[in-house]
Amino acid sequence: MFETLKALQPDPILGLMAAFRQDANPRKVDLGVGVYKDEAGHTPIMAVVQKADAQHRAEETSKTYVGPPGDATFNTQIERLIFGADARVLGENRLRTVQAPGGCGALRVAAELINRARPNAAIWVSDPTWANHVPLLGDAGLEIKTYPYYDAATQGLRFEAMCDALNGIGRGDLVLLHGCCHNPCGVDLDPAQWDRVATIAATRGFTPFVDLAYLGLGLGLAEDAYGVRKLAATVPEMLVASSCSKNFGLYRERVGALSVVSPSPAEADVVYGQVQNVARGIYSMPPNYGGALVGRILADATLRREWDAELTEMRDRINTLRAQLAERFRTRLGHGRFDFIPRQRGMFSFLGLTKEQVQRLRQEYSIYMVDSSRINVAGINRKNIDYFCDAVCAVL
Ligand code: LMR
Repeated sequence: MFETLKALQPDPILGLMAAFRQDANPRKVDLGVGVYKDEAGHTPIMAVVQKADAQHRAEETSKTYVGPPGDATFNTQIERLIFGADARVLGENRLRTVQAPGGCGALRVAAELINRARPNAAIWVSDPTWANHVPLLGDAGLEIKTYPYYDAATQGLRFEAMCDALNGIGRGDLVLLHGCCHNPCGVDLDPAQWDRVATIAATRGFTPFVDLAYLGLGLGLAEDAYGVRKLAATVPEMLVASSCSKNFGLYRERVGALSVVSPSPAEADVVYGQVQNVARGIYSMPPNYGGALVGRILADATLRREWDAELTEMRDRINTLRAQLAERFRTRLGHGRFDFIPRQRGMFSFLGLTKEQVQRLRQEYSIYMVDSSRINVAGINRKNIDYFCDAVCAVL
């Protein structure tokens, strides 16, 4: 049956995890896959998640099916978290959310939904975008096109070029936007730029689709949700795929959500039924455990405060590391080549190295990053920061 299949190269991001684990060098540094790490290089279970877990275990009385939409409390709470409790789309009953197996599950369900509505629709993604967007969306049948985004020369945004491209996209096509903490480049739109994108979307009629995998890890919960909220207040129809992998540290539990804003409650109900039918045909229903914990945390004022505090600690640590990296590079190099790092947000930045330099860092120093020179800033700590900066300067 399978003799026609060809062997594949390891996944460009997940493959690094396996290679890193096999490396015996005690000085090895993992800046590959996007997981948060603390000062000890560990990805901890958040204290608030442990509390919610204890409550959940004490109170759960059945393991019967929940159903294709997933945990109802989770869905309600995640809508409020993302769109704001006073969002107009909630008041107008135009928003529907289903829990999904991670942000990836949400992206794939969305892609299947779009393909049902409009076979072979084009979805415009930023240049560059997260590598897994291509199979998640493209394998479902959508045509992937790109709009200009990252400017390698300035380590900033090609905003005018981006707007020019968006002005050429019309009704029936979709534009995928990273809600915050752009993966892989860390360059985000500011509020004025979101305002302009929302106006273009409303004028041109394309459907915005926001991937929100790092909410709260950029500038703050409300600040990071600015773009989604602006779009939801401006356009009649949009999608949001969100993830709780990073901001709740629930990576392996696969907790995500797909939210769809429709022009009217009746259309929202049709979409809601279709989304559940798509999920039924792929995995039937999402895993409950992680979503139940998130729903519990967000619905309880005390747990919610504790979560905010832990999230703030993670965000502050990342932003402090960004400043420290720039400063250490400046001291070593005598110029500001890496001054862009603190201007960017979230876990990722491109260092701007060649593939050969990235290979040398891996082979000679056991420092792991994606071939594009994307680093996960959260993998830096007091013990490895000087080793890392010295190594990068040595291969420049
Ligand atoms: C990443 O980009 O490293 C993360 O989103 C993890 C993944 O699944 O690729």
